[in-house]
Amino acid sequence: MQEIQEVLLTPEKIAARVKELGAEITRDYQDTGKGLILIGILKGALPFLADLIREIKTPLRYDLMAVSSYGVSTKSSGIVRIIKDIDLSIEGEDVLIVEDIIDTGLTLKYLVETLKSRRPHSVRTITLLDKPSRRVAEISPDYNGFIIPDRFVVGYGLDYAERFRQLPMIAVLKPEVYS
Ligand code: IMP
Ligand code: MG
Repeated sequence: MQEIQEVLLTPEKIAARVKELGAEITRDYQDTGKGLILIGILKGALPFLADLIREIKTPLRYDLMAVSSYGVSTKSSGIVRIIKDIDLSIEGEDVLIVEDIIDTGLTLKYLVETLKSRRPHSVRTITLLDKPSRRVAEISPDYNGFIIPDRFVVGYGLDYAERFRQLPMIAVLKPEVYS
């Protein structure tokens, strides 16, 4: 694709890491006897969730949630609007929130707090990408695919203006695309 300036993570590198994360999660949850509920955050986490569930060998269910932040001015408050809630009840269950990227951390912090109020047995978080240099909220993921520098990335679910989600790699676009 001609808009791509640089590939940060190839499809092969992503697949290998997703396999490792799946094995780690399988180990961590295999003796709970409860089964796990993965909650994918739309839309960006969809490809990651789809690949990850097939690398987890312990029983699981998954559900989807869509959120949006209220806009730039209120974003620092960390208030997030739930556009689509999950259908499953998580009371007493082990929950794993699946995100595409943690940037400021405000979205994930809100999600963890909201889901904890529903009395699950546990809540953990996994993100494919982490930009720790941009963190505002005090939160770090329990599982993390890759730490990346402070650059705007697209692909494997991540978008710029809803485009480029279908790219099989994580990439940085040419500056002219963003302007
Ligand atoms: P946070 O609340 O700042 O952590 O926001 C996380 C959300 O911001 C992600 O779910 C993405 O939708 C979006 N986001 C943050 N950084 C990027 C990026 O580099 N590319 C695409 N989306 C991003
Ligand atoms: Mg997003």
